[in-house]
Amino acid sequence: MADSLSTANGAPASPEGDDGVRRRDFIHVAAVSTAGVGAVAVVYPLVSQMAPSADVLAASSTEIDVSAIEPGQAIKGEFRKQPLFVRRLTQAEIDEANAVDVSSLRDAESLADRTKPGREDMLVTMGLCTHLGCVPLGAAEGENKGEYNGYFCPCHGSHYDTAGRIRKGPAPTNLAVPEYEFTSDTVIRVG
Ligand code: FES
Repeated sequence: MADSLSTANGAPASPEGDDGVRRRDFIHVAAVSTAGVGAVAVVYPLVSQMAPSADVLAASSTEIDVSAIEPGQAIKGEFRKQPLFVRRLTQAEIDEANAVDVSSLRDAESLADRTKPGREDMLVTMGLCTHLGCVPLGAAEGENKGEYNGYFCPCHGSHYDTAGRIRKGPAPTNLAVPEYEFTSDTVIRVG
């Protein structure tokens, strides 16, 4: 009976011999290499898509003309799809903020820490309560400004002062000040 493990020329087959092992190794290596090339081909477009284009970067900053904001008024804007408050403080509001002992605050920041040099009158903050993210009142005419004459979040009763600092209620930190700069006396660019 023919040996089922014989080759055509009668030499014994050696499925575990050098040739067999090498052939299997090649198949294995080839499969791994193909998978590797496939992974690179898939990852590159993803990384490429994740890198923000110039348009996206431009859209991620917001320019706001603040020339029409009178002392004591605020406007609501939007920055990266989130509410933004720009408030022009009166001298009395600046004095009120500066009269506070900063070390007594939950989130110890002075008004100067939260504004640009020479522009303590212009307070730019995100309009999101730092407790659970409600939009506080106080930016629009006639809204409740809370016990410290700044902003008030009615969701759970957080009171912010004229520098947007948390003074009472559950919010852990001051209203966030985003990155921004004055591009002229009257225009700020946020982001
Ligand atoms: S979300 Fe503002 S106090 Fe809770």
